[in-house]
Amino acid sequence: MSKFLYGIDFGTTNSALSIYDEEKEEIVDTISIPSLIYFTETKSSIEGDSHIVGENAIEAYLSDGMKGRFIKSIKQILSRTTFTETRIHNRRYNASDLVTLILKDLKEKADKIIGQDCKKAVIGRPVFFDDDNTMKDTLAQTRLQRAAENAGFSEVRFQFEPIGAAFAYEKSITKKERVLVADLGGGTTDFTYLILDPEKVGSKNRKNDMIASGGIYIGGDSLDSAFMWDKGTPYFGKNTQYEATPGKILTVPKSLFANICTWDKMNFFNGLKIKKDIEDYYYYSGNDPKFKNLITLIENNLGYSFFRSIEKTKIELSDQEVSKFAYSNMEIDIDEEISLAQYNSIIEKDINKIEVYLNGFMDLHKINAEEIDCLFLTGGTSMVSAVQNLFKTRFPHIPLNSGDNFKSVAKGLALSGYLFED
Ligand SMILES: Nc1ncnc2c1ncn2[C@@H]1O[C@H](COP(=O)(O)OP(=O)(O)OP(=O)(O)O)[C@@H](O)[C@H]1O
Ligand SMILES: [Mg+2]
Repeated sequence: MSKFLYGIDFGTTNSALSIYDEEKEEIVDTISIPSLIYFTETKSSIEGDSHIVGENAIEAYLSDGMKGRFIKSIKQILSRTTFTETRIHNRRYNASDLVTLILKDLKEKADKIIGQDCKKAVIGRPVFFDDDNTMKDTLAQTRLQRAAENAGFSEVRFQFEPIGAAFAYEKSITKKERVLVADLGGGTTDFTYLILDPEKVGSKNRKNDMIASGGIYIGGDSLDSAFMWDKGTPYFGKNTQYEATPGKILTVPKSLFANICTWDKMNFFNGLKIKKDIEDYYYYSGNDPKFKNLITLIENNLGYSFFRSIEKTKIELSDQEVSKFAYSNMEIDIDEEISLAQYNSIIEKDINKIEVYLNGFMDLHKINAEEIDCLFLTGGTSMVSAVQNLFKTRFPHIPLNSGDNFKSVAKGLALSGYLFED
């Protein structure tokens, strides 16, 4: 019977698992699921807690009229000291418990493929889980380790995600190369500069080949937030005026709208005071329909479906010059044409931040652009046209490569079995 090991890329948006056959020394299969959990509104009497993971979670949540608890971007709570637990159907879930549900789902699917209970996993982690705060970083990894153990793994190693991506690419090259890997995901953008050598695939000590690693907390979610701020919030009352006191016309504080720019922050609006404020704005604006939209958005929990339409526009603009920003639900009616040029200017600040970070990274590690043999881009956000342009302009002389944007990290992790040989 063959022995297996799993490479697991637990991502902000998508999670993937790659199965490596240690005897045949090859990857057997790679599966991926969206990193989502949906707890239905009512507890199922049979299963105890009724939760659905992955693609089916989206369908179930939308068809249940967005009732219940829908959990997205769990990775981002791993480093949050303020998050201790959440209560769902009278059960407490800490960060590890939630991550466990994703890892378990992947493990069960993979175990079924190989017909064994695999206990061994190399799990990816971003270069920085949140910022440079070591305490938070350690907390995040500890929580992830616990989740892996809860999911049934007894032998666990960690590997930086961009190194995973690089190892997947290393499989495809024929000569030694100095490679700059950029992994642009949903939550973070990570860079690694390293030496890849096809003769060293899977070999024991690769430490000396890793020249530099770094990362910044900007990814696809940040782009969607920027879009919401610029194009979405005006439909919900940003820039709208109300009569604060008789004859005194004011604009609603913009800070209010920061809370609808990430869909999970919308929970903030569940506070009674905020609801009352919004109702007041509605009233004193002479019942401006935009505030009605805001009330509808919050009361009906439309955040996730709204952000899906923002993401759809973004994805279309990765290979089209023009797209539509459209949302039509419960009297919220948006149908606007968005050009790539407009989109680029909306996300410009974030793209600049990535560029500034990259320049600092190159300076700090004394990386001379002339000596880089190849750029390897991966992650969903690497498909954004402005991101592609950033790399093409910054390194016009260097060939740009990419692999499977959603599976390459997991594949490279599965090729990191050397981590088990102490
Ligand atoms: N064609 C596309 N064009 C632009 N963005 C895309 C495209 N497809 C997916 N994305 C975006 O890519 C992101 C998800 O990428 P990926 O699966 O690599 O992230 P992740 O691994 O889950 O996140 P992280 O590595 O930050 O934890 C999302 O923000 C998604 O909207
Ligand atoms: Mg990723």
